[in-house]
Amino acid sequence: MVGSDVYNAAALLRAGDVVGIPTETVYGLAANALDARAVAKVFAIKGRPSFDPLIIHIGHLSQAAELTQSPLPEVFYRLSEHFWPGPLTLVVKKSDKVPDIVTSGLDTVGLRVPSHPMTLELLQSSNLPLAAPSANPFGYISPVTAQHVEQQLGQKIPYILDGGRCTVGLESTIIDCTCASARILRKGGVPIEQIAEVLGYFPDIQTHSSDNPRAPGMLTSHYAPRKKLILTDNTKLFDQYSGRNDVAFLLYKNPTAEHPVQRILTPLDSDLEAAANLFYYLREFDEMPHITLIIAERAPDRGLGRAINDRLSRAAANP
Ligand code: TXA
Ligand code: MG
Repeated sequence: MVGSDVYNAAALLRAGDVVGIPTETVYGLAANALDARAVAKVFAIKGRPSFDPLIIHIGHLSQAAELTQSPLPEVFYRLSEHFWPGPLTLVVKKSDKVPDIVTSGLDTVGLRVPSHPMTLELLQSSNLPLAAPSANPFGYISPVTAQHVEQQLGQKIPYILDGGRCTVGLESTIIDCTCASARILRKGGVPIEQIAEVLGYFPDIQTHSSDNPRAPGMLTSHYAPRKKLILTDNTKLFDQYSGRNDVAFLLYKNPTAEHPVQRILTPLDSDLEAAANLFYYLREFDEMPHITLIIAERAPDRGLGRAINDRLSRAAANP
């Protein structure tokens, strides 16, 4: 069922059920992070391999203490104070209170305070830390509306909190705070340029690691639509396919004259607008029966454009 009853969502979560929740990035599939049986349901519902750890969502920075080992690194405080609530996940050493299933046996945990008002209210009023991956079947594009969640997982969960369409539209940036200098594990909703400004240095980016199965969000093929996708900055390719009814164009800011199926990520030329539209449009194309191929134009490689290109290149790597 889809609804907007935060109290009902909290009651279900407290009873060990799994609930769909809105965040500013994408929708999550949430369970009480301290209840290993509830977290196991999340893995089963999503079809997620047990070696892929979950992020824990909290309502306030002060809740981090019981989930982590003190002292927390200085960089954790610097980044969380600056970017929380918001689309940033920070990886730090976990405490014994966090069940191993949440972190896939790692001794670290990813934490984030999301900024969506409904989920913040849920987190703060229930005082439950919520383990939540994106609410999509494993490997597919993350959902950015409650209806996306309902279409794919509605039969498997008792409730989905409807918080409208996600404003950021792609997942949080993940930063590993356990090393001497912070590292980016996933490009996401906070642009690296903003993080560099707060850190005072440009962090290393370690997102490509097909050889690191502990973090499949970093696997080359992920976030993929069912249909074949080509990512390009070669405008000739668009000319070549122009007019074809079975090919969808995902263009960055300029439309192509007379192509039947096209979406423009950002008519206003804003990386924020482009990110918010990315998964929404990819899902639209996937739902169109006559479309067999998606051709996507590469975004300018700065700001959120980096995360957009990251998701598109992983979608393009889908075999
Ligand atoms: O924006 C988001 O982060 C969304 C919303 C729902 O909050 N969540 C999300 O979760 O994208 P998920 O499970 O789809 O992606 C989480 C990523 C995975 O790639 C996982 O490997 C990585 O976070 N991760 C989680 N805990 C980690 C840890 N301790 N060390 C390294 N990577 C971790
Ligand atoms: Mg995901």
